[in-house]
Amino acid sequence: MKKKVAVLISGRGSNMQALVEAAAKPDYPAEVCAVISNKADAKGLVFAAAKKIPTHVLDHKTFESRDAFDTALHDLIKKTGAEFVCLAGFMRLLTPGFTRKWEGKMINIHPSLLPLFKGAHAQRDAIEAGAKESGCTVHFVVAEMDSGPIIAQAKVPVLPGDTEETLSARILKEEHTLYPAALAKLARGEVRM
Ligand code: GRF
Repeated sequence: MKKKVAVLISGRGSNMQALVEAAAKPDYPAEVCAVISNKADAKGLVFAAAKKIPTHVLDHKTFESRDAFDTALHDLIKKTGAEFVCLAGFMRLLTPGFTRKWEGKMINIHPSLLPLFKGAHAQRDAIEAGAKESGCTVHFVVAEMDSGPIIAQAKVPVLPGDTEETLSARILKEEHTLYPAALAKLARGEVRM
């Protein structure tokens, strides 16, 4: 039986798309049972809906507090039947109460070789720091942002003349392979937090 996974997005959703495409293969150990966005105009929602995956919008702006949003998010994920959660460009900080509930069950992808270059501008920061290589990381989510135990990493070179855009594109290509591979390991029980 495939493990059910909810994917959380805020925008483009190309990593979500890579997970959905991997999960369509019969021998893949997980299936995407829901795509949840905190933004109604997230482009990824269109792809997910076209694939007949249930989509949900939970607009954080309609909640009084982070706690209230995270409580509703938790309830929604539970209702989808998901056992695991993949953050895929989900641009919200999560409260410790929420991350505790999904400890060992929730993973994220980040466009740097963590622990280097945490935060929202990882590719730009790598270039500005003069890094010779960068890449992406899939890690378990803990309360502290971009800090949980690492499951997998892929490296790419930072080339002379790279801009934030060219480096981001090189990294993104790796993300689309790394994330499905890491989720498969988690779903098969080959990695544990
Ligand atoms: C990716 O670079 C991911 O590593 C980061 O946010 C970006 C999301 O892109 N967390 P997409 O929405 O998956 O296309």
